[in-house]
Amino acid sequence: MPVPVILDCDPGHDDAFNILLAAAHPAVDLLAVTTVAGNQTVEKTTLNARRVCAAAGIRGVPIAAGRDRPLHGPPLVAENIHGGSGLDGPGFGDGEPDVPQDPRDARTLIRDTLLAHPAPVTLVPTGPLTNIATFLLAHPELIPRIERIVLMGGSTGRGNTTPAAEFNILCDPEAADIVFSSGLPITMFGLNATHQARATADVVSRIAALGTPLSRLCVELLTYFAGTYREVFGFDAPPLHDPLTVAHLIDPSLISLVRAAVSVELTGTYTRGATVVDLLGVTGRPANAEVGMEVDVAGFWELIVEAVRVLGERSGD
Ligand code: RIB
Ligand code: CA
Repeated sequence: MPVPVILDCDPGHDDAFNILLAAAHPAVDLLAVTTVAGNQTVEKTTLNARRVCAAAGIRGVPIAAGRDRPLHGPPLVAENIHGGSGLDGPGFGDGEPDVPQDPRDARTLIRDTLLAHPAPVTLVPTGPLTNIATFLLAHPELIPRIERIVLMGGSTGRGNTTPAAEFNILCDPEAADIVFSSGLPITMFGLNATHQARATADVVSRIAALGTPLSRLCVELLTYFAGTYREVFGFDAPPLHDPLTVAHLIDPSLISLVRAAVSVELTGTYTRGATVVDLLGVTGRPANAEVGMEVDVAGFWELIVEAVRVLGERSGD
């Protein structure tokens, strides 16, 4: 049976590929997409989710906008990585994509989706955890309808936005603390894992060779993403963080996991937003998450290239 999934995201170049992977693979039933302020404003991340679905011919998946700021403090954006639109690179034009925005807000769409589905649903957040935390606080009665949370965020090591904190967690540490303290089964893919999944020139040329309008769009996305990751971080190729989540759902053998206690630092002068992962079990705190460690990189890229192929051929010119 395919895994029923709601993606909560901030497209974002890597979020975009996670949408493609979730829509393309038969092991996943993409029920809904919700968006959140993160890489860009929620207006822009919502438009980008619509643009990706329109370009890939993904129809009938409701897309609803969520929170425009974290639970506390001002929103961050990652314009230096994802550009002014949040999805720079391709020329999407100024017109409205022909995939509509759902009139409901993210919290209502998640509620309705959980109530309508006959079995518990997996939540896959790949942006700041504001929508997820807000939903858990507002609908504790619906927690039994959540199977698990599989998220991209944090790291067992250093951060990327401060030396200690990864972007998604730093955007809303209080929301992340609510999620990691929820008692729900959590699988966390942090930078220690996602930095293994770099879109090398070989990957980009395999996607280019597919020769469809969608594959050309994906090459433009990866080319832009490669430029900013080279400029900002000195990376030889950009890590495609978010699709580790759906790749894990498709094939749990792709990424090794360890159970550990994960705590979110809320008050550290230099460490706010850090995920403190007790890999050695020295704190005595009970493990509250599975943490991604080693990635089968070849297997990961097989899934990504195949998703672009399938959707590209389906959507055609
Ligand atoms: O730190 C990487 C994460 O922050 C990814 O999810 C990226 O899309 C941004 O949201
Ligand atoms: Ca993201």
